[in-house]
Amino acid sequence: MLDPGKLRGDFPALSLTFHGKSLVYLDNAATTQKPYPVIRAVKEFYEKKYANVGRGIYDLALAATNAYEEARRVVAGFIGARPEELIFTSNTTNSINLAAYSLLASGLLDRGKNIVTSLMEHHSNLLPWYRVAAASGAELRLAGVDGKGRLLMDELEKMVDENTAVVAVSHVSNVTGVVNPVAEICRVAHEKGALCLVDGAQSVPHLPVRVGEIGADFLAFSGHKMMGPMGIGGLYVRSDVLEKLAPPFVGGGTVRDVEINGDVEPLWTKPPHRFEAGTPNVAGAVGLAEAVRYLSRVGPGNVEAHEKKLVEALLEGLRDLNAVIYGPEDPDERSGIVTFNLRGMAPHDLAALLSDEAIAVRSGLFCAAPLMKKLGGESGAVRASFYLYNTVEEVERLLEVLGKVEGMMNF
Ligand SMILES: Cc1ncc(COP(=O)(O)O)c(C=O)c1O
Repeated sequence: MLDPGKLRGDFPALSLTFHGKSLVYLDNAATTQKPYPVIRAVKEFYEKKYANVGRGIYDLALAATNAYEEARRVVAGFIGARPEELIFTSNTTNSINLAAYSLLASGLLDRGKNIVTSLMEHHSNLLPWYRVAAASGAELRLAGVDGKGRLLMDELEKMVDENTAVVAVSHVSNVTGVVNPVAEICRVAHEKGALCLVDGAQSVPHLPVRVGEIGADFLAFSGHKMMGPMGIGGLYVRSDVLEKLAPPFVGGGTVRDVEINGDVEPLWTKPPHRFEAGTPNVAGAVGLAEAVRYLSRVGPGNVEAHEKKLVEALLEGLRDLNAVIYGPEDPDERSGIVTFNLRGMAPHDLAALLSDEAIAVRSGLFCAAPLMKKLGGESGAVRASFYLYNTVEEVERLLEVLGKVEGMMNF
């Protein structure tokens, strides 16, 4: 089992204080704090291995290239992929845009095709599809959710047909923490000959995710949400799919040679480099690999179990308050995210009061406006989201402050 007390010392930000109180950081769905091994790995890269990658043949350039490709091996291994199936990107948003625009550049989207996604998506798994649908004439289909934010599987299944180019769904909702049956969704997509993209922004950092078990053709994730640096992310693409895709962005790094024979004739590099135009974020990749090593030592299954305990404690405490909880009440149906409101209090006001107590939560619509509207939270809500370093004592501190706020309102 995971002991957060033992891990907390690795995270310098967790000993910060605000207003004379120690920080309770509960905004992990937005981004996570960094442990010393990650900070050190990035520093060491800049001090001892810094040069551009994939080009120079001097020792320092080779050290940088080796560090970058070793990082690819580590991160790919973490999700059960082969290194050549992992494209480094800047974040999940960039990964999904890359997937969407690769399908467009490859001529796989046109007027007769459709794209299936859902109402529960983060804007980053909705707007790229909206754009490529508009550009190609393909139809965008949105599967609905029930009153608790669970995906309506029947509806999704009916929407997928022989003309579906891709089904794109989140693995875990960043609003409700609902975990989608992504293996089943990919099976439905493949049955009709469609591709399947899984937005793993909220799953890869929090639970064991293996691409082979899900059967996804694409898996997108962000380094900064799993203790890695900002500005690095990943797009897994199954090798047989990747071989057939054209890169939407080209330039240095994507070609081995260019001939000018009346026309420009590029000789493309192999994937994944064909999809990484320009100088990549090598320090970010090195830091992410270190984060993955840290996460592997703790064990993704332990992280999942630990967060479940925290969710249980928070849901139970919220039931004693005059709170609206968004999403399923059963902790077994969610990952480490709880979104709620105190009746009669605006979410930003509540978040500001919590901030006065050094409790960091997110408030607003969480870049998922369609879902929040569907759940009746169009004016926003407050979200507490956990990670491996959070403790039951922190949940108790949050509940205590919420209790005081409610007491003040009842005066
Ligand atoms: C489910 C989901 N998808 C995509 C994103 C976008 O991630 P990023 O901002 O790192 O690109 C987020 C971020 O919160 C998310 O929760």
